[in-house]
Amino acid sequence: MPYLHQWRPALRGSLPHLELGREPTPVRPLPALGGERNGIWLKDESGFGDGGWGGNKVRKLEWLLPDVKGKGRKTILTFGGLGTNWGLATALYAREQGIDTALALIDQPRDEHVEAQLGRLEASGATIHFTRTKNRTIALAPWLIGRHMSGLKPPYILPSGGSSPLGSLGYVETAFEIADQVRAGELPEPGWVVVPTGSGGTAAGLSLGLSLSGLDTRVLGVIVTEHLRLDDQAIRKLAGKSAALLRKRGADFEEPELRHEMTSDWMGETYGAPTPESERATELARADGLELDPVYTAKAMAALLARSESGEFGEKPVLFVNTNGPR
Ligand SMILES: Cc1ncc(COP(=O)(O)O)c(C=O)c1O
Repeated sequence: MPYLHQWRPALRGSLPHLELGREPTPVRPLPALGGERNGIWLKDESGFGDGGWGGNKVRKLEWLLPDVKGKGRKTILTFGGLGTNWGLATALYAREQGIDTALALIDQPRDEHVEAQLGRLEASGATIHFTRTKNRTIALAPWLIGRHMSGLKPPYILPSGGSSPLGSLGYVETAFEIADQVRAGELPEPGWVVVPTGSGGTAAGLSLGLSLSGLDTRVLGVIVTEHLRLDDQAIRKLAGKSAALLRKRGADFEEPELRHEMTSDWMGETYGAPTPESERATELARADGLELDPVYTAKAMAALLARSESGEFGEKPVLFVNTNGPR
């Protein structure tokens, strides 16, 4: 089977793609965190996106926004918590393409970080609906769709985090990029890639892409929310839908062997609530010049450190993906 990354130009050619960030994003070792143990490496997505912000959301929007435009939709309707990074990136990157955004937001613990993000969301030009809970959001869906019709066209509905089969292709590509960096000698082949998981597209895309790229690397998805089902099977299903989309567009590959593991052991009390381990991880990462966010990356790093300290990752290096790209 030819490595799909060799077929990458065709991927770009067969599905509309909009370049919003510059790749490849950098990789570097984290010596303070890795210490004497097997190396811990960083793939730093924080600067991905025009203007140097956006992180993992922009990878997805590169594939999603052309589809919105291609379908002639004028508004995106999407979902998140009060401090949604996804909502902010969508509102601002879509606006540049002449597309409006409507956000239905559910409650999460309000701290300084969330209040500041809410301020940015309000300034973004998005229409915000405070729907409070997941059940109320579902109940209000027909009204939300009606409210955001443009003529006869309904809004383009995107799941929270942009984790549709199409959006997840952003992380299939990132996996190809990691494989290229390994083959170029910039990074040793990781045994594991560790990512925070809030809606699943990042983990699913990486799991599919790493398998297609021919690397022998597993994905550890660190679940940070109780609002969505994000277990192994859910991620497998999403990756399978992305694979089907690629096949529909002409990619020819055998059934990929998906190698991911999901854990919710590091979420703590709820989405957005810090844990002693996430606070420790944040402190330790600073010694390597890495600033973590409390909701996503700090919890993923807490999981990484615990497994690394107990030797569970084995011999090979571990790659941490910094998905957070604050504005
Ligand atoms: C900073 C950050 N990291 C990770 C994630 C989770 O990625 P995914 O939604 O693809 O699981 C998000 C989700 O929005 C995020 O904002």
